Amino acid sequence: MSKPKVFVTRPDVPQAGIDLLKEKCDVEIYDQPMPIPRDALIKGVQGKDALYCLLTDKIDKDVMDAAGPQLKVIATMSVGFDHIDINECKARNIAVSNTPDVSTDSVAELTVTLLLVCGRRIMDSANAIKNGEWIYSWSPLWLCGRGLTNSTIGIVGMGRIGQAVMKRLLPFGVKKVLYYDLFHPIKPAEDMGAQYVEFEELLKESDFVVAMCNLSEQTKELFNAKAFSQMKPTAVFVNTSRGGVVQQDDLYEALKNGKIRAAGLDVMIPEPLPRDHKLTTLPNIVLLPHVGSAEEAARIEMATLAAKNILSVLDGKPLVTPVPMP
Ligand code: DGY
Repeated sequence: MSKPKVFVTRPDVPQAGIDLLKEKCDVEIYDQPMPIPRDALIKGVQGKDALYCLLTDKIDKDVMDAAGPQLKVIATMSVGFDHIDINECKARNIAVSNTPDVSTDSVAELTVTLLLVCGRRIMDSANAIKNGEWIYSWSPLWLCGRGLTNSTIGIVGMGRIGQAVMKRLLPFGVKKVLYYDLFHPIKPAEDMGAQYVEFEELLKESDFVVAMCNLSEQTKELFNAKAFSQMKPTAVFVNTSRGGVVQQDDLYEALKNGKIRAAGLDVMIPEPLPRDHKLTTLPNIVLLPHVGSAEEAARIEMATLAAKNILSVLDGKPLVTPVPMP
C-alpha cells in the first residue's frame, strides 16, 4: 500500500520532526531555507494528504484548492495560526493543529526579559559606554528607569503564555496583575491573584502593558492611538504575540510624543522590518526579530509536535493539539 504524502514547506525544520514523518509517510520538502514562495507552495501541496507549514506561509482557499480534496490535515509549527484560513478548513473538514505549550516557557522568559530591558533601560545603558556617553562615574538620575517591584502589570490575553508570564513576575514583588481577555474568568490566573478588569481600566492602571493575545478580528489593531492615549505617560508596552494587534503608526506617534515611555516588540509588521523603518529611529523602543521561542530545545519540540499531529490524523486518530475551530 502506498504511503500518505506530506509536503513540508521548509528544509531547515529540526530534523527530529522530519524523521518522525519519514517513518510512515512519503515526505516532500521545499528545498530552500527561506519562506516558501507562493508558486512553490501551490505546486508542492498538490496531491498531498498533509501539509506541514510555518507561520510565514499563508494557507488559504487557493492553497487548499491546489492541494485537492484528499488533504486531511494542516499542521503549523507555531502557536499562532492566524496565517491559516480556519473557516475554510472547517468547511472542508481539514484538521488543523498548532504547537501550544512546548514554547510557553521560552516565550514567557523573553517577555519578562523585554519588560525588564525596556523598564530598566538596559539597551540605553549598554549603548552609553559604546557611544562615549559615560562622562561621570555615577549620576543621581542618569539612565533611571522603572523595574517590576511594586508595579502594576496589565496582561491582555491571559492564555497559557500570559499565565506563564504572570507566574514569573510574581517573585519580583509586583503590586498587582490585572488582565483582560475575551474569555473570563480565567481560574488559574485568578488563583495566582490576577484581577479581571475592562480593557480601558487595564490601560489606565498599568505600569507595564503586555500584549499576549492571538491575532483575530477582535484583537486586530487593539493597541491603537486611543489605547496608547489611555496609558500612563510612564507606561512600558511589550508585545510578543503578533504584530497585527498593534496599530504601528499610532505606536510610533505615542513613543515619539511621550504618550508612553517605552516599548519592546518581538513581533511587528512587516517581518522582517526594514532596517530604515521609522520605528528603528526611536530611542525608546527595543525591537527583536521574532525570537520569542528561539531556543533549540523548544524548536525541536515544536517540530516533533507538528509531525505527531499529522501522523495521528493520517492514522485515523484525533489531533494531539487541535486549534480551536470557530
Ligand atoms: C509562534 O509559535 O506562534 C511564535 O510566534 C513563533 O515562535
